Order: sequence, then C-alpha cells, then structure tokens
Amino acid sequence: MEVKIEKLDNLGRGITYINNKICFIPNVLPNEIVEIEITKENKKYLEAKCINIKESSPFRITEECPYSNVCGGCQLNHLCYNEENRFKTNKVKDLLFKYSHIEKEIIEPIKYQERNYYRNKITLHGNDEKLGLYGIKTNDIIPIQECLLVNKRINEIIKYLIKNNINIEEAIIKTSNNEDKIMVSIHGEINNKQELISKCDVVIINGEYLSNEKRIITNINKIQYKESIDSFFQINKTLTEELYEEIKNSLKGKNINNALDLYCGTGSITIYISDYCKKIIGIDYNKSNIEDAIINKELNQKDNIEFICDKVENQIDKFTDIDIIIVDPPRSGLDKKTIDNLIKIAPNQIIYVSCEPITLARDLNSLQELYKVVKVKPFNMFPRTYHVECISVLERKNVEK
Ligand SMILES: C[S@@+](CC[C@H](N)C(=O)[O-])C[C@H]1O[C@@H](n2cnc3c(N)ncnc32)[C@H](O)[C@@H]1O
Repeated sequence: MEVKIEKLDNLGRGITYINNKICFIPNVLPNEIVEIEITKENKKYLEAKCINIKESSPFRITEECPYSNVCGGCQLNHLCYNEENRFKTNKVKDLLFKYSHIEKEIIEPIKYQERNYYRNKITLHGNDEKLGLYGIKTNDIIPIQECLLVNKRINEIIKYLIKNNINIEEAIIKTSNNEDKIMVSIHGEINNKQELISKCDVVIINGEYLSNEKRIITNINKIQYKESIDSFFQINKTLTEELYEEIKNSLKGKNINNALDLYCGTGSITIYISDYCKKIIGIDYNKSNIEDAIINKELNQKDNIEFICDKVENQIDKFTDIDIIIVDPPRSGLDKKTIDNLIKIAPNQIIYVSCEPITLARDLNSLQELYKVVKVKPFNMFPRTYHVECISVLERKNVEK
C-alpha cells in the first residue's frame, strides 16, 4: 500500500491515515511517499513498516549507524540534525500549548552541540556470547561493535569486552566528562580480568570491586563530582554545563535565603548553584546518589548544603519559607502531593528541569494557578533520539502568600 506521511508524532514516528484510522510508521519523514506493510491492527490505530521509499524527503540523510533499523536506541538517525532540532523545538511548543496554553513565542531556540559521541554512559546486554543493545521494542540483543552515541573511551572498552566476552549478562560503562576516568561493572564472566583492571579506574564484577577506587571523578565546568556506578549523573558530557549555567543565570541578582533542589541526584545542581543561596537542601531517594552527594559537598568544601535521602513526597510538606525550588523529576513528572505542596510553600521562583515534555506540560498547567511561566528553553541532550530536555522558569504571580 502506498501512503503519504503527514507529520511525525512525539516518538518520531511518521503518521498517516488509512480509512480515517491513524497509522504509525517508524523511519519515515513528513511528505514522503512510501510503500508500507501493516504490522499491527488495533481498534484505534494501526502500525506499519516502510518497505520502499518512493519519494524521499530533502531532510533524509544516509544513516551513519549500521544498527539503525534494528537497535531500539535511536529513532531519528535518518533525519538531518537541523530538522531533528526543529522537530524537538516544535514538539515542546505543541505540547506546552496544547496542555498548558503556553504561548509558542516564549519557547526559546533549542541548545544543541555535537550529534555523535556525546554520551558518558552505556548499558550493554548480553546472552549466549552476544553483547549489544536491545532491539526495537524487544529484549532481543543486537550485537554491536561500537555505538555512535558514546565517547571514544567507552567504544574502546566495548570492543575489548566483545573480544573477551565469555558470558556477560550486563555491562555498564561510565566515563568522566573529559574521558580521563572510566568505570565498568559487569554481571557475568569475562576473560582477562587483570587486563581490564589495567585499562579502567574502577572495575566491578558481579558486585565485587576489583579496583581500589569505588568512584570516578568527573567535572562540570570547574566543579568536581565523584560518581558511583549506581548513581545518577547527566549523560551529555558538554550540554549539561550549559543547562546548569542557565539555571545559575536565572538565580543571579536574587536574594536567596533558603532553596530546595528536589530529585537532586548526586547533588550536581545543588553544588553548582550553592554560592547563590544562604542554605540549600537537596532531596533524592536513591541511597547511592545521596552518599555521593555528601562526598561531593565535602569535596567542594560547601558548608551551606544539606542532603536528605528520602522520597520527595515524604518530605515536601515539612518545608515553609523557601525562596527558590528546583525540581528535576524522572520522566513521570511531579506527583499531586508534591504539586499541592509547591503551591502551599509558594516560593518566589520554581525552576523545572524536565526530560519529558508531556509530563512537563501537565505539571506546568497545574502550577499556573499560582505561577507564570516566564521562560522555557529546550536542550537537545539526547541527539538521534526523540527525547528532549527542557528548563522552565516559573515566577509566582503577584498574590498574597
Ligand atoms: C533526572 S534525575 C535528576 C538528577 C539531578 N538533578 C542532576 O541534574 O543530575 C532524577 C532523580 O530523581 C530521583 N527520584 C526519582 N523519583 C524520586 C522520588 N519520588 N523522590 C526522590 N527522588 C526521586 C532519582 O533517583 C534521580 O536521581
């Protein structure tokens, strides 16, 4: 069947309509004429695969990645980078307008940097001597030799593990942002453990540390952070600094006594902005994150920071008299109790860092009862995928506290 692609959906899939039913097709672009084969029929929608492109988009590029149509990691390998950035900007504009009536004009131009080799972390999966990434919508392993998203040092270790793989179930590889430190955690068996230890700063095999060090040290701008294998750390090695600078810039000139950094991970934002606040408290429920955050606070000699290891929703009703709150929740966004308490605490400013514009749009809509969204800036932290990060600045409307 031949169809014309109308537009892309939020997941980067092409949309067409067949007998008034929406049909989703991966790896196609708007205005392309393509031959498709239906792969799934549901009451409300269809899914199809493209079997031939009859008229191609001028924005289509030759895919650089050999695993493009089988690996589930990237969805936009076939789209040129300018258009990828335009797609993400429009996605943010459309979602925020649709769900929270935020005017499209306030969305600032997207920030982006290199499209390749930007990640400082990869998780590989394995079985039967295969080692690679999960396929599209499956847990089938697609063996890889290298990945275009991760930095050079990680790719070297991927090649090494492939060569020495006896039976690896999972391998996590992380580097510092400047790639001078590397850590590897493996579940399974490999040859040449000693050689791996000589190549890495931290090696963990089946939960056992084979190196003296347990953490690697990395930096964002001039600040140093220690991170463990199980801790959260922003994966984009260069754009994170720009994101954090944006947060810092929106605090400049403000007289901040008390601040909260909710979902603080290893305390990276907390520490980055701590000089702008008299006191700042970071909260995260992950024990490894908070252990690292406390080490990082000491490493950077900050004595105006406190970290709490708990769920935000268990702690949020304990605070009053807060000037600024930063939230950086997981993709699911903020829960109702947290939103209700943000409105009750009523800080002058909320800075919302989000990796999921759909939940961001929902939450901004709830917060608009008391806050005006004065700025939204998208960051292409995850090139080649449909994901986009955003920072939103909210100022309290002029109402009695
Ligand atoms: C997107 S990360 C943000 C990390 C940090 N702001 C940064 O820039 O590195 C989200 C964090 O939320 C934490 N988290 C998820 N749900 C939580 C909850 N209900 N309460 C507290 N922390 C939570 C995770 O452990 C993770 O560190």
